[in-house]
Amino acid sequence: VNRDIPTEKVAGPPGADRAAPPGRTETVRTQRDLDHFVQVYRSWSHLLPPEQIVFERLAEELPSMRVLDIGVGGGRTTVNLAPRVREYVGVDMDPGMLVACEERFADRPGSVSFLQCNAVSLAPFADSSFDFVIFSFNGIDYLRWPERRRALEEMFRVLRPGGYMLFSCHNLNSLHKLYWLKRTSGVKEFLLEAMRYALVRLCNGRVQSLQKRDHVQFYDVIYLTTPKRFLVSLFRRLGRFCYSKPQAQVRQLEEIGWRILGTYAEKGALLATAEERNASEDFWLHYFCVKP
Ligand SMILES: C[S@@+](CC[C@H](N)C(=O)[O-])C[C@H]1O[C@@H](n2cnc3c(N)ncnc32)[C@H](O)[C@@H]1O
Repeated sequence: VNRDIPTEKVAGPPGADRAAPPGRTETVRTQRDLDHFVQVYRSWSHLLPPEQIVFERLAEELPSMRVLDIGVGGGRTTVNLAPRVREYVGVDMDPGMLVACEERFADRPGSVSFLQCNAVSLAPFADSSFDFVIFSFNGIDYLRWPERRRALEEMFRVLRPGGYMLFSCHNLNSLHKLYWLKRTSGVKEFLLEAMRYALVRLCNGRVQSLQKRDHVQFYDVIYLTTPKRFLVSLFRRLGRFCYSKPQAQVRQLEEIGWRILGTYAEKGALLATAEERNASEDFWLHYFCVKP
């Protein structure tokens, strides 16, 4: 097991937790961090169960699709999507991620490209110019709630009517689980978990108050490796992520004009009713939508 890669919740590069203004690029603070996160993301090539389900659902249409992959990271989804679609564009606000993609897909055909771009302004792309847009692995949680709305509006704009969109985001209903001290085996693991636990409690309010809200900005510790590394880079390891209630997310999507085709739990179960969706305590949910 690679202990660098959390299995139940995932965050991103330090410094990427604040949205840069449109057109500006967020910089990663140190070369070591950049390398660390780029390497983690670049090593991934698996699909998450909801992604598998949605890609299968679109299997017949993919070969004719122009696809925009926002927050492409190290190319996990590129591996799975680019060979199956007519044209693939991966964007990320982090230049280090783009360098990783350029290297990883050096032999790519002309139909696959990468571009630096912030999700809140997809200005390089024309209206109705894509058939499918994705923003995977909770990348959208780096944005504050109003910025997330801007990103979702931009995704709506660049999609053609009838085009599809898929993203995942952290579920506020799961937040209380981060306030539990997890069982660990080994002294080092216990130390890391104790530090995470203390920091989460110190930096955030009471979970009962947070969970009464529709959406919150939550400080969390990401990619703990060793206690020493953690202490040295304490504040660089602290990320801020948006957690939202499913009903608030649905409302935001519907206000923009999206029609939701399906909401999926972590293991791919379809949350068929609003009751099921609102009751889910999974760490994150996938929203699969269409532009009517
Ligand atoms: C958790 S990583 C996921 C990477 C990749 N999609 C994957 O699934 O492996 C999130 C990615 O989103 C990017 N990102 C975050 N906010 C962004 C924004 N506003 N615009 C573009 N990219 C963003 C980060 O730089 C990071 O590469």
